[in-house]
Amino acid sequence: MDKIEIEGGTRLKGNVKISGAKNAALPVMAASILGSGESTILNVPLLRDITTMGKLLGHLGMGYHLEDDEAILQSENITSIEAPYDFVKTMRASVLVLGPLLARTGEAKVSLPGGCAIGARPINLHIMGLQKMGAKILLSDGYIHAKAKKLHGATIYFDMPTVTGTENLMMTATLAEGETLLENAACEPEIVDLANALVSMGANIEGAGTSIIKIKGVSGLRPLRYRIIPDRIETGTFLTAAAITEGDVTIDNCNPGHAESFISKLKETGVQIRHNSSTINVRGPLQLKSEDIKTMPHPGFPTDMQAQFMALMTIADGTSLITENIFENRFMHVAELKRMGADIKIEGATATVKGVDFLKGAPVMATDLRASASLILAGLAAKGTTVIDRVYHLDRGYEKIEAKFEQLGAKIKRIKV
Ligand code: EPU
Repeated sequence: MDKIEIEGGTRLKGNVKISGAKNAALPVMAASILGSGESTILNVPLLRDITTMGKLLGHLGMGYHLEDDEAILQSENITSIEAPYDFVKTMRASVLVLGPLLARTGEAKVSLPGGCAIGARPINLHIMGLQKMGAKILLSDGYIHAKAKKLHGATIYFDMPTVTGTENLMMTATLAEGETLLENAACEPEIVDLANALVSMGANIEGAGTSIIKIKGVSGLRPLRYRIIPDRIETGTFLTAAAITEGDVTIDNCNPGHAESFISKLKETGVQIRHNSSTINVRGPLQLKSEDIKTMPHPGFPTDMQAQFMALMTIADGTSLITENIFENRFMHVAELKRMGADIKIEGATATVKGVDFLKGAPVMATDLRASASLILAGLAAKGTTVIDRVYHLDRGYEKIEAKFEQLGAKIKRIKV
């Protein structure tokens, strides 16, 4: 298991280029199941989760080739309808093949994802929606087995907005007969990206990016050639890296419009931010001010940026209240940040972070993807050396992370173990 070693205290300076969004690329790859033929997806980040999705599509009988930032997928032959446990346990987003497989072949068998480090993460809303569209669902031996001779449109209300749930049902509805309404749907930019990709395949979708999405089923879809949006969470992570190191960084190839809530919060902490349509310049202040955040579905503050923002608040002036409303166990980074000298107390869903003068480097352990990013940020700002263990979490979601930080002047290296 590789480790990352950081010698903290360097002001980051220079330019960094943002990769394609993992959480947009994964559903668009799954969508390629829906149209028979060769699909090309551009601006795909080369990450472990992307490779896992490629292998899963390969297991279903599809051809897949991942090179540089392109994924080429051949979906003429679907020879298996099963996503086995080995894939789903490695990556929960494997569940995204459930809807497309069912819509294309009339049957899908997908291992039930268990809980994960950040929460229980049930998929009851995915299942409820498929049932409303006419699927028969059997849950047995740890698998969801869905069958439908014919899927029909339905009105589906989500008790809470779910990102992959909205994506799964939107994909399924493209080939169902009649009209589907998804109400209280997730509004994340990744949903809009998937809808745009599906429309380019011939789907009829309106309202993606709002809480009501209308899908009129069509008789068939063609393969796609589609460019994925830039990763807004990687963008936010580099914004925070510049902020926490008093840096001066220009972030290229990004979409500032997708990071608005986060940019607003950072400005309130005293960070200077200027942007045009695809570039952001960020300058960290000598002294950060504390700010409170509450994570919310988009366009609220993203849960995927909570851990990174907390790292920033550990050295801000004053006290910050950080409330996690999406996942019940997404404070695993707190114990590790405390090992570096942070003053944080958790009560229920709220962490109270009292800013300290400085963090001190320490050996720490990554527990999930975004927690790992927060430890990198803390390590960049800390006095001395931080060694982060279990960085495989990081490799799931950040492309060439050490190289990108090194380019900005960080003293960071990977230790192969
Ligand atoms: N939920 C249910 N029932 C369901 C589905 C969701 O109760 O059937 C609950 C969840 O337990 C959670 C809330 O709804 O409390 C929202 O979860 P959501 O379904 O939106 O999460 P997800 O689709 O599993 C995606 C991202 C996550 C990101 C969340 C929230 C992908 C592949 N994953 O997960 O990304 O944190 O949305 O924005 O898109 C990450 O990249 O590090 C990551 C964890």
